[in-house]
Amino acid sequence: MLLLGLLLLQLSGITAAHQGHWEDYKYGHQGSEVLDKKPLCSWKCLLFTLQWPGGFCQSLNKDTECVIPQSINTWTIHGLWPLRVLSCCSCWPMFRSDVQEMEAELTEHWPSLVKTRSSFHFWLDEWHKHGACAACVEGMNSPLRYFQICLKLRGQFNIRRLLEDAGITPSCERLYKVVEVHRVLAPHLGDKHEIQCVTDDQGRQVWFQVKIPLSHNLTVGCDHHSGASSGPGWNGSPGHPCPPEVPFYYYPIDHQQPLQPCG
Ligand SMILES: *[C@@H]1O[C@H](CO)[C@@H](O)[C@H](O)[C@H]1NC(C)=O
Repeated sequence: MLLLGLLLLQLSGITAAHQGHWEDYKYGHQGSEVLDKKPLCSWKCLLFTLQWPGGFCQSLNKDTECVIPQSINTWTIHGLWPLRVLSCCSCWPMFRSDVQEMEAELTEHWPSLVKTRSSFHFWLDEWHKHGACAACVEGMNSPLRYFQICLKLRGQFNIRRLLEDAGITPSCERLYKVVEVHRVLAPHLGDKHEIQCVTDDQGRQVWFQVKIPLSHNLTVGCDHHSGASSGPGWNGSPGHPCPPEVPFYYYPIDHQQPLQPCG
């Protein structure tokens, strides 16, 4: 009897501890003095990064097969990244059921374009690398909320339309300059947005990505932002700012030949 009592006491102790962790997961880390002091939560700026499928395939190494699903015809999400976080933890698990209610939307706006990697794994990776750190802010403090914010931001920045309205359309022949694209996008993406290119195997500059700095509160621009290329996840990524003096291609999307849209 005594033994059973002890056992029950122990069990309830364990449950309480588990609930403590669970509360952290559910509500993020606000109010926790210990955790607030960690570099994990000290970020001031975010980068919202969108990718252009017509150029993205050129950014992969030759052995990685690129696939652009038939339904994908515009800019898609790469990620939403807190800046200058030393490392984000993979301590906050995410399950498929966490994003189930918006899976269709995510599939449309945040697809994996890498054949061997499912979209869910792309999201999972982004959550572990960046989302779990973004979760220090109210409103992004769960996988569901984080991905909802990303979708909302995607809706806010209709890059293809903005460019089209200015006569900048995907093309195999026309070349564009950083200054003309920047002029069109700056009123919407802020002055500090970055247009990113990759160099294709013929040495051409190909536009494939745009990085949009955001404040903690998700307004465009961020004072503490300086240089887009710091933090985890984009070190060693193949892109670079499109050189101002070299005109670049804004390739069309070719679903049949994603890697060679222009033959
Ligand atoms: C968002 O944050 C920025 C920078 O901290 C600040 O200047 C701006 O007023 C804030 N905007 C809102 C709507 O809170």
